[in-house]
Amino acid sequence: MGKILEVKNLVTKFYTSDGVVNAINGVSFDLEEGETLGIVGESGSGKSVTMMSVLRLIPSPPGKIEEGEAIFTSFGASHDLLTLDETAMRDVRGGQIGMVFQDPISTLNPIMTIGEQISETITRHLRVSNDEARQQTIKLLTQVGIPDPELRYKSYPFQFSGGMRQRVVIAIAIACSPQIIIADEPTTALDVTIQAQIVDLFKRLSEALNAAVIWITHDLGVVAGIAERVLVMYGGRIAEIALVDDLYEHPQHPYTVGLLGALPKLDEEETKRLVSIRGAPPDLLIPLKHCPFSWRCDYAFERCWEEIPPQIKVGPRHEVSCFYDLEKGGPRDV
Ligand SMILES: Nc1ncnc2c1ncn2[C@@H]1O[C@H](COP(=O)(O)OP(=O)(O)OP(=O)(O)O)[C@@H](O)[C@H]1O
Ligand SMILES: [Mg+2]
Repeated sequence: MGKILEVKNLVTKFYTSDGVVNAINGVSFDLEEGETLGIVGESGSGKSVTMMSVLRLIPSPPGKIEEGEAIFTSFGASHDLLTLDETAMRDVRGGQIGMVFQDPISTLNPIMTIGEQISETITRHLRVSNDEARQQTIKLLTQVGIPDPELRYKSYPFQFSGGMRQRVVIAIAIACSPQIIIADEPTTALDVTIQAQIVDLFKRLSEALNAAVIWITHDLGVVAGIAERVLVMYGGRIAEIALVDDLYEHPQHPYTVGLLGALPKLDEEETKRLVSIRGAPPDLLIPLKHCPFSWRCDYAFERCWEEIPPQIKVGPRHEVSCFYDLEKGGPRDV
């Protein structure tokens, strides 16, 4: 299978009045055609900024992408999204790459009917008549599970519940049959039963489109149900990246082990409190010369305070940024 997106050494900073926020510090990963990649990590670890950088949606100022490439390969042609001109980039966003964010309210226009909003996306990216766009919109509304689509076409976002609004946003994201769908915490604002429905819907639609999906969440439980591969972020870097089963069965980074330990287990008594990882995430205002996790790590030794660990290959499609070998119980030979 071919690679549809290759992010190489991405560096993004924010120049704020408090100082320079080192938000993304050399992130590299790739995405294969049709695969679902989950991105997990604590709040502030750089999940959203990574993908907003790739889409060039970072507010600038204060944000600046300082280094890196994001090679997008579509129909045999490759382009670096970070240097593409803005007009071409606008075609990519919403066209070849669909997006779903946490809060449907901020994505939807409150004074346009939902039908008009979906149709507008279609006519902006595809050469179709208004009538065809309307027909396609009604089909999309049906696909995302909105009853009475002909009637609902004329509704405004405020007339919909949160879950229904997120279905509309998903309809917009898939309207132009994108090759990649980026979903940033798409279910966080919804209650649990609706969350499960949206996850199911997403799975079904992305499979039907054979689209690759990047699913951002702080919830390793959700990711296990949807992703084939998981990228764990910490302090604006990649801590670990692996196939889901491999990550859950053989986590190699002490931070991943901590995250997995914090997952509630179904067979545990409800009263048992969740384990949390001690300490706080690193202050991104201070540029680091050592492992960002060393303060919180039970295994940190001298080297961890002297060097930034590179991404080390530890298995097929498994990389970890850690000098300590948990399985061996000692420093890695790197
Ligand atoms: N506009 C901005 N100005 C200054 N700093 C910013 C800005 N946007 C993001 N950052 C900083 O970049 C870092 C990464 O933020 P990001 O939003 O990517 O985190 P996240 O992993 O998506 O967290 P969450 O789970 O809370 O969504 C954070 O330290 C954040 O404060
Ligand atoms: Mg975020």
